[in-house]
Amino acid sequence: MAVPASAVAGALLLAGCGSDADGRPELSVRAAYIPQPVSDTMAAGFLTIVNQGGAKDELTSVTSPTAGSVTLHETVGSSMEQVSSLDVPAHGQLVFKSGGNHLMFEMLKSRPVQGETVTVQLHFAASDPLKVEIPVKPATYTPKTGH
Ligand code: CU
Repeated sequence: MAVPASAVAGALLLAGCGSDADGRPELSVRAAYIPQPVSDTMAAGFLTIVNQGGAKDELTSVTSPTAGSVTLHETVGSSMEQVSSLDVPAHGQLVFKSGGNHLMFEMLKSRPVQGETVTVQLHFAASDPLKVEIPVKPATYTPKTGH
C-alpha cells in the first residue's frame, strides 16, 4: 500500500510527542522458531509479533515456499481451532507459543531440519507483508523467557 510522503512525515511528528494519533501499526517479529518436526508432512511454528505503533493490525494469512499451506491455530482447552485472522493490538503483541496460538505448516515440500531456516511471509490487514526467516530448533526446544 502506498503512503504519501507527507502523511509519513506527519505521523513521525505526532509520534514524537507520544501521541497515539499517528494511527499506524509498527510491526516487528521476535523469538521465531520451529521445533524440528517428527512428521514429514506437518510442523508447528512460533513467534511474537510486536506492535510499537498506535493502531492495531491483524495477521490475516501466512505463506511459505516450504509448505503447501500455513494456517493460524488457536488452542482452546485441549483442542485446536483454525482461525482466519488474529489481532495485533496497538502498543501490544501477538504471541504464538507452545500450548497457545501456533502456525501450522502442512503439505511440507521438505522436512525442516535443525539448523535450517524456513522462510515465511506474514500478511496483515494494514501493514505491508513481513518476511521472516524462522530457524529450526531441536524438537524439544523451549525459548528462554525474558526478565
Ligand atoms: Cu494446530
